[in-house]
Amino acid sequence: ASSPLRFDGKVVLVTGAGNGLGKAYALDFAARGASVVVNDLGGNISGTGSGSRAADKVVEEIQSKGGKAVANYDSVEFGENLVKTALENFGRIDIIVNNAGILRDRSFVRIKDEDWDIIQRVHLRGTFLVSRAAWPHMKKQGYGRIIMVTSAAGIYGNFGQANYSAAKLGIVGLANTLSIEGRKNNIFVNTVAPIAGSRLTETVMTKEMVDALKPEYVSPLVIYLSHDTCKETGGLFEVGAGYFAKLRWQRTEGVILREPNKILDAEKVRDNWNKITDFNKVTYPRSSQESMGMIMQLNSEIDAAENAAVEAARTKDPV
Ligand code: NAI
Repeated sequence: ASSPLRFDGKVVLVTGAGNGLGKAYALDFAARGASVVVNDLGGNISGTGSGSRAADKVVEEIQSKGGKAVANYDSVEFGENLVKTALENFGRIDIIVNNAGILRDRSFVRIKDEDWDIIQRVHLRGTFLVSRAAWPHMKKQGYGRIIMVTSAAGIYGNFGQANYSAAKLGIVGLANTLSIEGRKNNIFVNTVAPIAGSRLTETVMTKEMVDALKPEYVSPLVIYLSHDTCKETGGLFEVGAGYFAKLRWQRTEGVILREPNKILDAEKVRDNWNKITDFNKVTYPRSSQESMGMIMQLNSEIDAAENAAVEAARTKDPV
C-alpha cells in the first residue's frame, strides 16, 4: 500500500489541459512519470477564439520540472488529431482524460441553436471522438483507462444549464456502455463530477470558494482511477475540496399492478402512487439485465397465473 502510483512508460492525453482541472491532472501525471499530451484549444470559456499559449505554458512547466510533455492545440472536435499527437511523439496511448469544456449558460428558451450545438460538440461529441480514436490502440495493447468528466449540473440539473446538463449526462451514458464494451480488453472507463475553482466557476463562486476548492484536491481520484492497479470500471464519482464519494442508481421496491384477467389503467397507477414512489424499501440495479430481468420474471409469473386461471375455467366447464 505504500508504493507510489507511478506512470512510467505510460502515455496520457489530457484534453483542455491548459487551465484549471486539466492542468492539475497533467502536472500530476507528469510528476508521476507519465508522458503527457497537453491538449488545449486556447479559447475563452464560451468556446470562441483559440491560441497555443495555454497548452504551451503547461508543457513548459512540466518540462522545467524534468517531466515529459508535448502540446496539441486542436479542438476535441478533431479527436483523431489529438491521439495522433500521442502516437507520433510517444508511440502509444494509454490513458485519456476527457476534460475539455466550455459553458453557454442561458435560461431554456434563450438557448440559441448555436449555444446548444457547440456545447454538445465540445463535451459529448468531443469525448466520443477522442475516445473512439484511442479505442483500437487500447484494445490492441489490452490496456486502457478513460476518465469521463460530468457535472452536478448533469446529474441533478441546474437552472440555466439545459444544454450543458444534457451533454454532461450524455457523457455518463457513453461511459456506461464503454465500460461494458471495454471490460474484456482491460479498458476501464470511469466518470468524475468535480467541483473546483477555475475560470469556469469563478463567475459563480466567491473568491474564498475559488481559493478553497483547489483542482489539486480533485486530481488524486483521476490519478488513482487511471492506474493499472485500479480495477474500478463504470463508476461515477463526486469529488472536490478533499471529498470523495461514489454514486449509484436506486430504485423503489416497486409494485405489480397487473392482475390476472383484470384491467390495468391509469386510475390504478394513481391509487398506488405512494407504493410506486416509496423509497423505504429499495433495490440497486447495476445493469439493464438486472433491471429488466426482474420485470420480465414478474411478467411471466402473471402470464402463468392468467394461463392457470384460463385452464382452471376450462376444466371446470368443458366445452
Ligand atoms: P477551465 O475553463 O479552467 O478549463 C477548461 C479548458 O478546456 C480550457 O483551458 C479550455 O481552453 C479548454 N477547451 C475548451 N474547449 C476546448 C476544445 N474544444 N478543445 C480543446 N480544449 C478546449 O474549466 P475547468 O473548471 O477546469 O473545467 C474542466 C472540466 O470540468 C470541464 O469539462 C467542466 O465542464 C468540468 N467541470 C468543472 C467543474 C468545476 O467546478 N470547475 C464542475 C463540474 C464540471
